[in-house]
Amino acid sequence: MQPEDLPEILTLEADALSAWNRDQLEGELAQPTGFQFVVRRKGTDKVIAFLCGRVMVDEAEILKLSVVQSERRKGVGRQLLDFVVKFCSEKGVKNCFLELRVSNTAARNLYEKEGFSIIGKRNNYYIEPAEDAIIMKRKIENSNPNTIIR
Ligand SMILES: CC(C)(COP(=O)(O)OP(=O)(O)OC[C@H]1O[C@@H](n2cnc3c(N)ncnc32)[C@H](O)[C@@H]1OP(=O)(O)O)[C@@H](O)C(=O)NCCC(=O)NCCS
Repeated sequence: MQPEDLPEILTLEADALSAWNRDQLEGELAQPTGFQFVVRRKGTDKVIAFLCGRVMVDEAEILKLSVVQSERRKGVGRQLLDFVVKFCSEKGVKNCFLELRVSNTAARNLYEKEGFSIIGKRNNYYIEPAEDAIIMKRKIENSNPNTIIR
């Protein structure tokens, strides 16, 4: 993700629950421990998905994953998550965490398919609308246990 991608990402986020604004996105781009990726449609180069997260030594947290409405259910979310799991593995990450709304069945199914399991719940974690959060975790194998890419 580059600063010039922000207008397209803000459009993608416009109708989302807990949508991120420009300040939040710029804050993530400036995060020394952050990682941010976009998926583009071949041919048009349009941004169709993005993901933001952070790595803290051997733990990672996925903070945001969003696929544009018209491109959902085509495997894009799964492709992006697979990529991020490999990226984390190469960084020496052992566990990856994330939170989601309890009502978000689509995301929960996706994460369960990708090897995440529920490890806890946070009451009233989200606002507008208020909702509990599920916390999920996935163990990550190091692709090469003798090396870490920093
Ligand atoms: C959740 C989200 C990222 C899924 O992205 P996607 O590209 O549509 O997902 P994929 O096509 O890779 O789907 C992979 C699996 O996830 C599950 N899934 C995805 N969308 C689903 C839906 N609407 N209902 C039920 N299960 C769904 C299915 O198990 C699916 O596998 P299948 O198609 O073989 O049945 C997308 O719906 C999205 O951007 N939602 C809004 C933002 C959001 O909720 N982000 C996650 C918050 S933590």
